[in-house]
Amino acid sequence: MIETERLMLREYTPDDFDALYEIMSDPETMQHYPAPFDEARTRRWIEWNLENYAQYGFGLWAVILKETGEFIGDCGITIQNIDGEMLPEIGYHIHKKHWRRGYAKEAARAVRDWAFLNTEYDRVYSYMKYTNVGSYSTAIANGMKKVKEYPDPKNTISYAYAITRAEWEKLQRPAPCTENTVSAKGS
Ligand SMILES: CC(C)(COP(=O)(O)OP(=O)(O)OC[C@H]1O[C@@H](n2cnc3c(N)ncnc32)[C@H](O)[C@@H]1OP(=O)(O)O)[C@@H](O)C(=O)NCCC(=O)NCCS
Repeated sequence: MIETERLMLREYTPDDFDALYEIMSDPETMQHYPAPFDEARTRRWIEWNLENYAQYGFGLWAVILKETGEFIGDCGITIQNIDGEMLPEIGYHIHKKHWRRGYAKEAARAVRDWAFLNTEYDRVYSYMKYTNVGSYSTAIANGMKKVKEYPDPKNTISYAYAITRAEWEKLQRPAPCTENTVSAKGS
């Protein structure tokens, strides 16, 4: 379980089906996917993540609002084929009624920190269809930079963003005190 200021991330259970289906069957939410999910595809999504937990010790985790206990989406790490390489990828889906409140950023940063603290990976990725502004803006907010643009049959063009362990370690260090801040403090 991962806890942030406003969120709790926990493993999926089959009981999350209804709340997840509301998100994944919505055409607006799924506009950058080939199609919204039907019931069978949504059940498979939960099963796939239960398999991921068993195989890798991680997967997409359910994102819960601490204040209300509401399931608002998922965020976590899965192994994805990014331009022919199987790589650790941070993914996120948030219910549209909660968009633009910083929940994806908050969850993704916690997942990124978890990945560098609990795995040996030296780089973690997020990838998306080139039209998915919300997704790549969240990757940028997660400290990632664009590392690749490539033709992808399911996305036409995919963008891959990434952050290295060294870049992440730098983010953890407090900003150095510059001469300006020293003199500003002194004056
Ligand atoms: C992508 C998604 C998870 C973002 O969720 P969210 O909770 O609204 O994102 P946040 O509020 O945390 O925003 C994170 C950053 O992205 C920006 N952002 C989010 N949605 C955006 C949009 N539609 N257009 C432009 N910027 C956007 C925010 O301004 C913020 O940037 P900042 O830190 O510089 O202010 C959400 O739009 C979603 O669920 N989309 C559908 C599923 C999907 O496509 N998932 C990605 C699959 S690759």
